Amino acid sequence: MASHANKPLMVQLAERSYPIHIGSGLLNQISTLLPQLPPQIFILTNTTVAPLYLAQLQQSLAESATEHQVVVHQLADGEQYKSLESFAEVMNTLIGASFNRDCAVLALGGGVVGDLAGFAAACFQRGVDFYQIPTTLLADVDSSVGGKTAVNHPLGKNLIGAFYQPQAVVIDTDCLNTLTERDFHSGLAEVMKYGIIHDAEFFTWLETNAAKLVARDSAALTEAIARSCAIKAEVVALDEREQGVRALLNLGHTFGHAIEAASHYGEWTHGEAVAAGTVIASNLAMAMQLITASDFRRIVALTKALGLPVKPPQLAWDTWLSYMQRDKKVQAGKLRFVLPTAIGSATVTSQVDPELVKAAIADVS
Ligand SMILES: NC(=O)c1ccc[n+]([C@@H]2O[C@H](COP(=O)([O-])OP(=O)(O)OC[C@H]3O[C@@H](n4cnc5c(N)ncnc54)[C@H](O)[C@@H]3O)[C@@H](O)[C@H]2O)c1
Ligand SMILES: [Zn+2]
Repeated sequence: MASHANKPLMVQLAERSYPIHIGSGLLNQISTLLPQLPPQIFILTNTTVAPLYLAQLQQSLAESATEHQVVVHQLADGEQYKSLESFAEVMNTLIGASFNRDCAVLALGGGVVGDLAGFAAACFQRGVDFYQIPTTLLADVDSSVGGKTAVNHPLGKNLIGAFYQPQAVVIDTDCLNTLTERDFHSGLAEVMKYGIIHDAEFFTWLETNAAKLVARDSAALTEAIARSCAIKAEVVALDEREQGVRALLNLGHTFGHAIEAASHYGEWTHGEAVAAGTVIASNLAMAMQLITASDFRRIVALTKALGLPVKPPQLAWDTWLSYMQRDKKVQAGKLRFVLPTAIGSATVTSQVDPELVKAAIADVS
């Protein structure tokens, strides 16, 4: 298997291009991997991640040639803290510490910490350097790459945010060892997504290596993360602001967001909801003769093999509709769906008969 530790992947965005370093033990190598870090460093993390990894990061920073003034801000743990209130606290801390435009913001945590840190970095002093050090599988393969940053509003997720790319992403695969089973599997749903929308060979590789991935085999995970990041980097390079192809990354998400919202963002993790949503989207694609029955069966089988749910919760059709209509992907009042057109490719369409959608949900429920 190829080693990804020494050769970073690149997100190609002209003058905003940046490397993604992936490997075991990288948290101990921050000062070598990021020699350009300025003296003033703000670390955003949370109360779960800090006891696990903050000391390691600080030790690594202390080893660099530059003397650093490090300020740490710990959020409480939970999606509800990806809020404007937390954003204001972060601003107060940065301003209180007299940080200037040359400071850097480091995100040490999952997608919640990363999204808030990125938005704070985009806004503080109209934009300061930002580095992602993701610690969940979902953040490794999805939220840390691509520059979408946001906080939630009581009326909806991610309603306030900015496109703001990091200077670099450092993924230490050792951090995955402490994730709960559910958070770990949640990330695998996004990994599978990349195979379905973009890379048939990767999908086949996932089928072959599902057992190793579920067992958190380090080499298999490194490979899966690298290939996922490579696909995300390629898609983001083509369409940074989601005018076109980037929308394919939302496979399973219109249904998934409805499941998450209907379960009040608690019973279902994001990845579980996306997995069940992907099965619905694939069933719909089969009904519309976009994919074969055999492709559909492979998607269901891989979802199960990755320890993810294939059946959505029992929701009334009106409930599905009302939540789907609130999705950000709705355009001019029309529901839009990302549907696979084969294993390895997908399309976005609003030309879908609602009766077929209803039947596709019922069929897998
Ligand atoms: N910006 C984007 O492009 C993008 C893409 C996808 C998702 N997101 C956002 O990401 C968020 C979800 O991210 P997430 O799934 O990482 O959730 P999260 O940040 O809440 O992390 C999940 C849980 O794992 C804990 N945790 C983190 N690292 C750990 C570790 N190494 N060991 C043990 N526990 C650890 C966290 O404290 C939390 O309890 C959502 O807010 C979503 O909107 C953003
Ligand atoms: Zn997602």
